[in-house]
Amino acid sequence: MSREGARLWDKGGHLDPTVERFTVGEDRRHDRKLLKADAIASLAHADMLGAIGILATGELAALRDALQEALAEIDAGRFRIGDDEEDGHSALERFLTRRVGDAGKKIHTGRSRNDQVIAALRLYTREWLLDFRAAVADLASALLDFAGAHARTPMAGRTHMQPAMPSTVGLWAAAFAEALIDDADLIACAYRRNDRNPLGAAAGYGAPLPVDRAMVAAALGFAGVQNNVLYVNTSRGALEAQVVEAAGRVCGTLARLAQDLLLFTLPEIGYFRLPEELTTGSSIMPQKRNPDLLELVRAKAAFVDGQAAIIRSITHHLPSGYHRDLQQTKGPFLTALEEAAGSVMVMRLAVPRLAVDAGRLRDGCTPELMATDRAYELVAQGMPFRDAYRQVGAELREAGRGGRLHGQAALAAALAKDYPGAPGNLALDGARRELRELRDAVESDRSAVTGALVRLAGPAAARLTDTGPAASGPGVPDGR
Ligand code: ARG
Repeated sequence: MSREGARLWDKGGHLDPTVERFTVGEDRRHDRKLLKADAIASLAHADMLGAIGILATGELAALRDALQEALAEIDAGRFRIGDDEEDGHSALERFLTRRVGDAGKKIHTGRSRNDQVIAALRLYTREWLLDFRAAVADLASALLDFAGAHARTPMAGRTHMQPAMPSTVGLWAAAFAEALIDDADLIACAYRRNDRNPLGAAAGYGAPLPVDRAMVAAALGFAGVQNNVLYVNTSRGALEAQVVEAAGRVCGTLARLAQDLLLFTLPEIGYFRLPEELTTGSSIMPQKRNPDLLELVRAKAAFVDGQAAIIRSITHHLPSGYHRDLQQTKGPFLTALEEAAGSVMVMRLAVPRLAVDAGRLRDGCTPELMATDRAYELVAQGMPFRDAYRQVGAELREAGRGGRLHGQAALAAALAKDYPGAPGNLALDGARRELRELRDAVESDRSAVTGALVRLAGPAAARLTDTGPAASGPGVPDGR
């Protein structure tokens, strides 16, 4: 079934079509997302081959033109990975060979598909991580704004879900903002590890050619070269797991936020309400306005964690070197990224649109919330804490829950306290400063990366994770 030379490793032998289908699996579909990154990495590789004398000036110019043509085809959604091509790398090499003949056949000098796929994945992942870190910062910022707007809105603090102490909507919302700022650290760590040039590792043992790895690193805007060529290969999968784990931490934070909102938007509680446009209906019960979006944020956190577990399970027991098993991590990886980004995006929509019912929140601040504050009044009068604790306990038993503790004045006094850690002091400025630093870091990373890629490949190289038109939409040929 394969035309002569369609498979890169074709040497004239026969491959059973069932084995071919099985080994290719879903790779062509996943590779469509990586094509653009692959073409850009190939430009840097070609420049380097020119610099070390493998490509003559004319050959390099021809290859560059052909690669630019490939980029345009990819952006237009027209680049095809044929049924007889194993993957995107094969399709790209064949495209180049058809366009420029022998120069095309030289592009694979000094590399292997193993470092080629890692390079494409890293470029794709780098942009995704920048976008994700920025989106997480936006969401954290929306939560801080929400916290600031409701810094004085009373809300029952709970432990074991039972009423515990007086608190505010601001404290609740800012807790999630600070969690996301911490989670963003994990994204930054994954970014640093990802931001190294793998090319030159070839199949894991280098190329028998003095390739200039630093030149390629600079051209692609990587912070440096990943030194050990065998480690380049063994870090495939490990790095993906780390990225998905970081995304999974963010999704975990969002799942807890979603879970709280599922409770607090219950009609019986009614602290918050989702606007109609963010809810979905039931096919049978006309009255329903369901918070499906929150439920799916909760589910997708588990899904993303699950993809990290799949990637770890596939890779943890592999011997050193490349193994085809690694191909099987591509799907879980790319799917996890898509789902994690989706969760951040919908929560970013939901948070600023949450309606707050201050009356219901105040009603939820039942008198027993004041028990600890009452005990500390006695402490302030000199009573040892344990005695005060027992006395308030006894008062509560006598008078029924909350008897002597009632009064909005007591609640207001409790919420007005403003020493560090008190309800009246959320210290949002500290979180805002951290967010500014986070945003600055993302923007400086982004401008370094974009600057390099645009210098290398032109303005179209500024974005490489946006999927072309052929990747979606009904009835569009999918290039398979
Ligand atoms: N599609 C393959 C992957 O994702 C590309 C590398 C193939 N390398 C090989 N030695 N068969 O792993």
